[in-house]
Amino acid sequence: ASTVLLATDKKVLMAPAMNPKMWAHAATRRNRATLQKDGIAFIGPAKGEMAESNEAGEGRMAEPLEIVAAIETMLDEKPKPLAGRRIIVTSGPTHEPIDPVRYIANRSSGKQGHAIAAALAKLGAEVRLVSGPVTIADPVGVATTHVETAAQMNQAVESLLPADAAIFVAAVADWRTANAAGEKIKKVAGKGPPSLQMVENPDILAGIGHHAQRPGLVVGFAAETQDLIANAEAKLKKKGADFIVANDVSHESGIGPSGVMGGDRNKVRIVSRAGVEEWPEMGKDEVAARLAALIAERLQTVVV
Ligand code: CTP
Repeated sequence: ASTVLLATDKKVLMAPAMNPKMWAHAATRRNRATLQKDGIAFIGPAKGEMAESNEAGEGRMAEPLEIVAAIETMLDEKPKPLAGRRIIVTSGPTHEPIDPVRYIANRSSGKQGHAIAAALAKLGAEVRLVSGPVTIADPVGVATTHVETAAQMNQAVESLLPADAAIFVAAVADWRTANAAGEKIKKVAGKGPPSLQMVENPDILAGIGHHAQRPGLVVGFAAETQDLIANAEAKLKKKGADFIVANDVSHESGIGPSGVMGGDRNKVRIVSRAGVEEWPEMGKDEVAARLAALIAERLQTVVV
């Protein structure tokens, strides 16, 4: 490999993996500095456990997906229209506890929100993702805060202000239980099922849409099973958004056996004061890329 590298005129990326003591050694540090001076790029090593038992520290190979992302960034010579822009994205469901073992949730997978965060990062944005509980991985290159409840999501988003834009993709629970039980609720013979008293959660999008530190661009989603456009237009006004991405989450939407929520495809309409734009059905990654391009275009015309 080293002789091939001497003969190449291409960019070189190293993904080293080494025992932490070897990686920390003065000779290795000197060699690494020399390579960096020669223009060779590095990804990793990361901190963590080693292959040898009971060994941990800095020396783990970067995760394969991080290496792929580093290669993509190195080879991507396209201009970065969102460079220097800070964007908050919410994604996934929220979990509202009933007692220590039970909670109220919804079918959101986080796929669309995470894809949007990744697409914005690809255009150069400094993305801050606030995610409810999901089973998918954090997007590479995106600082992710993990939360459970709507109240925690609200607090996390507020703490990330100021920002140039905020995109609210999360399926936030509208209600939480008034008093989550501290101990597991037991089934008592003859007593019947418990009744849950609910209180309203903060509307995170509406709070930010009317906030003193409102970002220059605020985008919401509207998941509807009926009257899609009328409901989206009402949300646009009520929540103080610049546009609403409206999607039909009914089983009649014609998208896959499970519909939009949890699936890989989406069909959206962009509802703004300027009117309604209908996009064809496409993969969630493609919706994300088009939306990121639209956000970049809008931010160029927004005075911040
Ligand atoms: N949203 C939010 N906080 C909430 C509820 C919703 O930030 N407590 C955001 C969602 O992230 C989304 C938009 O508001 O961007 C619309 O969410 P949706 O669930 O469609 O609307 P609701 O406000 O819940 O209205 P309804 O239940 O009447 O459909």
